[in-house]
Amino acid sequence: MEQTPAWRTSKRWFSRKHDTILFYSKSDRYTFHPQQEKSYLTHKYGFANIDIQQDARGYYRLAAMRDVWDIPALRGNQPEAVGYPTQKPLALYERIIRASSNPGDIALDPFCGSGTTAVAAERLGRQWIAMDIWDGAYDILCGRLEAERLGGDVIVIAL
Ligand SMILES: C[S@@+](CC[C@H](N)C(=O)[O-])C[C@H]1O[C@@H](n2cnc3c(N)ncnc32)[C@H](O)[C@@H]1O
Repeated sequence: MEQTPAWRTSKRWFSRKHDTILFYSKSDRYTFHPQQEKSYLTHKYGFANIDIQQDARGYYRLAAMRDVWDIPALRGNQPEAVGYPTQKPLALYERIIRASSNPGDIALDPFCGSGTTAVAAERLGRQWIAMDIWDGAYDILCGRLEAERLGGDVIVIAL
């Protein structure tokens, strides 16, 4: 994932508001589970053979998930926020893990920070390995797993 340098505005170009996620695989044989997302409609009439559903925002149908994802950056007052400056939203990592792994697979994050990858992996029944050069990452991750009552075994290897 390419880290955007803060959400910057500029007078010389459009405001930069996205991160780019890079996808690599060792071969053509990789795991990919197509996902779906809600595609909102202005009304529910005239759509033959399409299952139209409704929620608080309006009418929608389920469509194949596109490669532009609108997942807002984490705000400090959200329940999942732990105060880590570069913490990513769980929704983002859950989407990536759900699409690209099977239950029981291992998610590896060598730059885990507040441990979002590990929490997302636990929630989705995946194994995980999380590393960080910063020793405070261990306490944050343990706190998050405990808060969610997720029972991951945390083994710390200090190098
Ligand atoms: C952008 S943050 C990761 C944030 C994380 N995705 C989250 O949701 O909290 C990058 C992390 O990489 C760690 N880091 C930087 N250099 C490293 C290195 N050489 N080895 C391991 N971790 C490193 C930093 O300490 C920082 O916590």
